[in-house]
Amino acid sequence: MAKGLFLAAALAATALAAPVVEERQSCASQWAQCGGNGFSGPTSCCAGSTCVKQNDWYSQCLPGSQVTTTAAQQTTTTSKTSSRASSTSAASGGGSAPTTTTTSAPSPVVTIPGGASVTASYTGNPFSGVVGWANSYYSSEIHNLAIPSLAPSLAAKASAVAKVPSFQWLDRNVTVDTLFANTLADIRAANKAGANPPKAAHFVVYDLPDRDCAAAASNGEWSIANGGAANYKAYIDRIRQYLIAYSDIRTILVIEPDSLANMVTNMGVAKCSAAAATYKELTVYALKQLNLPHVAMYLDAGHAGWLGWPANIQPAADLFAGIYKDAGKPASVRGLVTNVSNYNAWSLASAPSYTSPNPNYDEKKYIEAFQPLLAAAGFPAHFITDTGRSGKQPTGQIEWGHWCNAIGTGFGTRPTTNTGSELADAFVWVKPGGECDGTSDTSAARYDHNCGLPDALKPAPEAGQWFQAYFEQLLVNANPSF
Ligand code: GLC
Repeated sequence: MAKGLFLAAALAATALAAPVVEERQSCASQWAQCGGNGFSGPTSCCAGSTCVKQNDWYSQCLPGSQVTTTAAQQTTTTSKTSSRASSTSAASGGGSAPTTTTTSAPSPVVTIPGGASVTASYTGNPFSGVVGWANSYYSSEIHNLAIPSLAPSLAAKASAVAKVPSFQWLDRNVTVDTLFANTLADIRAANKAGANPPKAAHFVVYDLPDRDCAAAASNGEWSIANGGAANYKAYIDRIRQYLIAYSDIRTILVIEPDSLANMVTNMGVAKCSAAAATYKELTVYALKQLNLPHVAMYLDAGHAGWLGWPANIQPAADLFAGIYKDAGKPASVRGLVTNVSNYNAWSLASAPSYTSPNPNYDEKKYIEAFQPLLAAAGFPAHFITDTGRSGKQPTGQIEWGHWCNAIGTGFGTRPTTNTGSELADAFVWVKPGGECDGTSDTSAARYDHNCGLPDALKPAPEAGQWFQAYFEQLLVNANPSF
């Protein structure tokens, strides 16, 4: 109310000073909101971008005019760059209780560009000889959503965050033909323009049916009961087509955060035990399909405070080695990623109280304990660790398992291959700092009690949406600072 009065007064003053020509924008500009429950602005995007539904509350104008995706439906097509024909699926929802629809094969709408003159194959550490790419999606979140409301001193630091290479999450089918396609095109252009060292692509594959089976915050768009496994295979096939078309770009993939870790510790949760066989089958499918000479894959392996407990680490080694062998020991499966979206330190001199009594109280101790067990089980794994939100130690967590928007955290070590450990290929930023872990709205379909705990920052929007206060927390507590 007060704000409305102030605006009215300001507008009246302007009207007195000069005649005002009312200008109402008829199209939403790139990266702007273009739909969602309760949204009243323009629902079509200006030339060059397309309105893509993120969830029931938010649709956004993403670069690219070739995609005929609408807020309600997404279609995929076959591509001449691959001999594999993709079956087709579509889904809606994602913000509320997942609903799934399946469409019949559409006419082609997106042509995947060819033009890979070389294959960016590698041996050894896939992070060597390349640098990560700071993608335009995360940069746009920082420049369009964060900076306008930051004090000048923090704004300069925020601009520096936007330049840090981070992973981009393919968390809905629609992101493959949009964010994935755009970023690969951007990287190719940068490399053709002479980037030296060349830029590598970093993505998270994250769309299993019955996703996030032990929690609610990141429940996905597909369900096993409603064709989700077939949808997922089509999603993986489409990713494969792009990877083949962009074989000139070294590409690192993080595979399905939380999923296999849940198979180790959360089989008592009905949704997890019901999903176990499907998760395993689809993970094996992904590892086989994405096994390409320029691709490196790291399966998500939770973190020290999850699978690093003495009771969990051997069963975890057996599970991951089993998946690796079931997939035929693909050359592109380099190992495991730890600490994704979590807050643990890489290496500490003493244990934070909330880690007690786990002897593996940091990620270095965890992987050093894990690696021999994996090797003995037949999986010669290397590791990468997400350090994006691990700068402040100890964190403000009351309990180690409190994963949702934890208070007292800061941006951490920048991505580097300089890990000081032969087991660790790189430190990486997998979780884009500032994107939410889950909503604190208790009436939301995806409300998870973890996001309402006293050590979770509130009020928090839906998972994946921009959480300005959290970004500021990470920025203020960054170590090293920006
Ligand atoms: C959460 C969200 C997902 C988002 C990711 C990265 O897992 O569910 O939508 O992409 O975080 O912020």
